[in-house]
Amino acid sequence: MSKWKGFFVFEGIDGSGKTTVSKRIAERLKEKNQSVVWHREPTDGNYGKKIRSFLSGQATLSPKEQLELFVLDRIESVNSVILPHLEKGSLIIQDRYYYSTAAYQGGKDLSAEEILSLNENKGFPKPTQVFFLDLTPEEAKERRKYRGGTEEAFDEDKEQNRIYANYMKILPENTVFLDATQSIKSLLDAIQEIIEGEIRS
Ligand code: TYD
Repeated sequence: MSKWKGFFVFEGIDGSGKTTVSKRIAERLKEKNQSVVWHREPTDGNYGKKIRSFLSGQATLSPKEQLELFVLDRIESVNSVILPHLEKGSLIIQDRYYYSTAAYQGGKDLSAEEILSLNENKGFPKPTQVFFLDLTPEEAKERRKYRGGTEEAFDEDKEQNRIYANYMKILPENTVFLDATQSIKSLLDAIQEIIEGEIRS
């Protein structure tokens, strides 16, 4: 058993609802008096800010540069947020982790599997459980239309298909796949039950 209380990671393609779901789960756990930290990658640190200017189309980055920045951002994220809180005994609920790097940056230069190994070999802590909010790239596109906001770096259909296919190759075997089209309440109930089961045992 891991020495940590729980490190729960949410993954999914753009528009799958990870951010809302992970934040609401963190709130529910806090209401039960758990010490919980909600965290996301890319972070709001210096590397994360550079990444966000690329994501919003204000800067261009080659796939190799993207990979480097995401890994640098993750080193900072692990050392300044994830490890200190896990060591203090808090739960971490995290929106995206290295599975995103494998899925999004995986392609011609390096495969998703190679990027996954590269991250695992850096000794980043392994999550207790990964939740994948599953919906097809077509359904996700429909949702993004209504969400508004600016078009992001990976918005094209063929990009989202590549990312989804990469996820299917690299997610851990015990990933919990959740139908992201169900009601938010039933999603939250299912996730909360799993997390509470994991942290009791
Ligand atoms: P964000 O604005 O947080 O969007 P969302 O709420 O939809 O997750 O942007 C995260 C974007 O960064 C998303 O398009 C995925 C991408 N990303 C990568 O390409 N590689 C990574 O390693 C990570 C963590 C995110």
